[in-house]
This record gives sequence, structure tokens and C-alpha cells, in this order.
Amino acid sequence: KLIVPYKLKEILVTQAQLHNKVQELGRWISADYEGQELVLIGILKGGAIFMSDLMRAITIPLSIDYMSVSSYGTSATSSGAIVIRKDIDADIRGKHVLIVEDLIDTGLTLNHLKEHFRSRDTLSVRICTILNKPSRRQIDVQVEYPGIEIPDAFVVGYGLDYADQYRNLPEVWVVDTEG
Ligand code: PRP
Ligand code: MN
Ligand code: MG
Repeated sequence: KLIVPYKLKEILVTQAQLHNKVQELGRWISADYEGQELVLIGILKGGAIFMSDLMRAITIPLSIDYMSVSSYGTSATSSGAIVIRKDIDADIRGKHVLIVEDLIDTGLTLNHLKEHFRSRDTLSVRICTILNKPSRRQIDVQVEYPGIEIPDAFVVGYGLDYADQYRNLPEVWVVDTEG
């Protein structure tokens, strides 16, 4: 089935804004976890682009792993159902875990992930996201490293997709849903 693309309306977050926020988060995380054993866990697929930028903005030793989690399927709004497609391979016992996401919207994905890690004998589990839509929250999940706050618009790029497309856009765009 061919997916008819929406038109891109305007840039909401520029490459420079993304870059500056990534550097700021990197400095902040480097200071907080200095001398500790840190594991970054990137949440596929959306988190992959931010993850690769963030890890290079962190100046302390760390290890990485990835999980594949999905809630949206190909629809534009959350279905509420979260599926773990791939768990981590790494042993995170006795380590500090930092979950790396592209967007926190309803909070359902992160809430589910925090529950998932709760019983795994980690020293801590925190959340870092590059984009945050607090106005859409259904569950009040604590975000220790919130990135850029955005309004409740349909956005794509920098990892965020519509029907698995547009993730490769280097900035965050608003999609024209009227067109
Ligand atoms: C998106 C986004 C977050 C999640 C946020 O992922 O990347 O992981 O939704 O939404 P929530 O706060 O309402 O749970 P998606 O499920 O679309 O999978 P993807 O990363 O593979 O696109
Ligand atoms: Mn995601
Ligand atoms: Mg998605």
C-alpha cells in the first residue's frame, strides 16, 4: 500500500536548536554521572538519532544498548498499547540506566519502560528526551533530563516518523494535516 505523504508545513525546531540542547544535556549528564557506571539505552526506532548525537556529547565513560518499543503502529496518535519488540542484551545490574527517547507524548511508553526496569537491580533509572509534549501527558512520568518543550502539533524529523517516514529530516517539522 502506497502511503500518500503529508506536506511539511514549517520547521518547529532547527538543527542549531537541537544541537545546542544536545550539548547542554550532554554536559549536564556528564556532570551528574561523573565516576559512576552509566548505561544509555536508546529506544528504537525514534530515539536512534538523538541517541547517537547525545552519546558523543557526553564526556564520561559509558556503555550503550537499545530496546525496540512501539506504541503507535502507523497511526498518528497513540493506541495506548506498548509492545516490546527487542529487549536489551546488556547486564544492567548495579548500573545507572539512562533511557534515551526522541519524544515523550502521553507518557505511556516511558511509564511502561520504567516498570520494566524496576525489578532489575539497577542503581537508578532516569529518562532523557530531546522533545517533550507535556500538554499531552496521560501519565505523570518523571523526566529528569527534559529537552525542548513543544506544543501539541503533529511533528516529524530527527527520529520522529509518520508511517515510518521522515525520520531522516535533520530538523523537526510540523506536518500539514489539512492538506
Ligand atoms: C514514539 C516516540 C516515543 C513514544 C512517545 O514512538 O518515539 O517512543 O512514541 O509516545 P508516548 O509518550 O505517547 O508513549 P513510536 O511508538 O511511534 O515508535 P517509533 O519510535 O518506532 O516510531
Ligand atoms: Mn519511539
Ligand atoms: Mg513512531
